[in-house]
Amino acid sequence: MGFIEPAGREGEWVTALLGWMTAGGLVIWLAVVSLAIYATFLKSRPISSAAARRLVLWGGAILPTAILVAVLAYGLALLPPVLAAAPEGSLRVRVVGEQWWWRMQIVPPRGPPVEVANELWLPVGLPVALELEARDVIHSLWIPEMGVKMDMIPGRTTRLTLNPTRTGEFRGICAEYCGASHALMLFAVRVVPQSEFAEWIDRQRQPAEAPATPLAARGRETFLSSGCGACHAVRGTPADGQVGPDLTHVGGRRTVPAGRLAAGRTDLHRWIAEPRSIKPGARMPAFGMLPEEDLRAMAAYLEGLR
Ligand code: CUA
Repeated sequence: MGFIEPAGREGEWVTALLGWMTAGGLVIWLAVVSLAIYATFLKSRPISSAAARRLVLWGGAILPTAILVAVLAYGLALLPPVLAAAPEGSLRVRVVGEQWWWRMQIVPPRGPPVEVANELWLPVGLPVALELEARDVIHSLWIPEMGVKMDMIPGRTTRLTLNPTRTGEFRGICAEYCGASHALMLFAVRVVPQSEFAEWIDRQRQPAEAPATPLAARGRETFLSSGCGACHAVRGTPADGQVGPDLTHVGGRRTVPAGRLAAGRTDLHRWIAEPRSIKPGARMPAFGMLPEEDLRAMAAYLEGLR
């Protein structure tokens, strides 16, 4: 479950800290409860005032202070490694929080960068430098299994290093209230073997696939003629908008938009027709006025963009 099964080095440290804090708190709690039981049920005569003073001094001041100082020192000692920058030449990911999705620019040490949305693929066993920005309001990036969380502040770049230690699928969330659809601002984190990551990057660099069916071809026409390209880019077509997510490989994503629906044809159709019923306040305009057949065609086209 989330943070107690860490998938990153930072998460392991934070989970260890949680363990020590819980153990320290338990020791203090047990001591207090034992004394209360002793005083209430077992002790028939009052203790001397000298013994009472010793008890208050040791049990009430020295022991709790020692435990809290130890836990504090342990926690402070973790800060420098948790906040340490990733080594020069590491994979960099620039993440921009927007209402209500995540723009992710993957900058590998070699080759051109790629831009994706709401899906962060990471190679296992390699450090990753995240550069966090916000376009409109304050957001906060949190991947519980990775153990770290960092605010994203407009006009400023904050940094975070991840060291994924095991492969798997995890969930990233926004941890700072940022408006109507704050709770719907999710992203997928997929930690994969390094070779699989390299294949994924290669695939993302490719331009969009040509429509495979007549329906998808009609969808491409509708997409281009309805003005979708003013906000969205589909590399390899005239659509080169930068306002919304890059859709070049949208059909290969698990969810659209930002963790809300499965990226299948039915849900894409729904999203295009009535985005605000799915994500209140979304900037995406509704296209429900288009003929049903055009909506179906567009959904088929986008689903095919693997
Ligand atoms: Cu973005 Cu909450």
